[in-house]
Amino acid sequence: MEDLLNITHLDYRWPGSRRFNLSIASLRMRRGETLYLRGASGSGKSTLLAAIAGVVDLPPGSITVDGIDVGRLRGGARDRFRANHLGMLFQLFNLLPWLSAVENVMLPCRFSSQRRDRAGPSPSASAERLLGELGFEDTALLHAPAGQLSVGQQQRVAAARALIGSPGLVLADEPTSALDESAKGVFVDLLLRECAAAGAGLLFVSHDRSLEPHFDRVLELSELQNGATTC
Ligand SMILES: Nc1ncnc2c1ncn2[C@@H]1O[C@H](COP(=O)(O)OP(=O)(O)O)[C@@H](O)[C@H]1O
Ligand SMILES: [Mg+2]
Repeated sequence: MEDLLNITHLDYRWPGSRRFNLSIASLRMRRGETLYLRGASGSGKSTLLAAIAGVVDLPPGSITVDGIDVGRLRGGARDRFRANHLGMLFQLFNLLPWLSAVENVMLPCRFSSQRRDRAGPSPSASAERLLGELGFEDTALLHAPAGQLSVGQQQRVAAARALIGSPGLVLADEPTSALDESAKGVFVDLLLRECAAAGAGLLFVSHDRSLEPHFDRVLELSELQNGATTC
């Protein structure tokens, strides 16, 4: 079966930057796989996720997601690719504070008819269900502006938004950095359970080693960077 993610000879430098070079010989993920990619601050984790998401310009041939060559996409095709295939979960959550929790979760369905169709007949019901599964307990706040939510609640909204409409791949960029130790493990377990239910693979980047045992596979970015490991 086709890989979910296939990276081959990725070489990326931010425009104008001489210091940093992201260079990965090979990295592959199977469908539904959960991969924990560890790396020190500044090692290029967010850069790698930006490359996979088509946020930066890449030459063709270095990254495919669901068989789609990300480097070949331009303009609106990149936006559609991202909306259709990827769930994105960020360190600072990136919620729209004036929209409610449910409206934030439904955003991918606005940008992708595939996601909307997969979310079922009622995207708002799907959003509420996901929020419930992810431990968003205060139903009175479901329709309040997201700016009024606690950090833990915002994080659940961000996770539900990444998962709605079952994207093939969820990219998570240190989403537990604002949580205390016990809350981290609980959140990661909920996230993994919902990824499995959605059939989504999860690429989770972090520097926090305590979370490693939750995942199918663990890799160190600096080892990939040196070309030492081929996976
Ligand atoms: N938007 C950007 N423009 C230029 N350089 C960047 C940008 N984002 C990150 N970098 C540089 O890329 C390198 C890797 O950063 P990053 O991918 O953010 O690492 P990490 O997420 O592992 O902390 C750093 O040297 C950083 O300064
Ligand atoms: Mg980062």
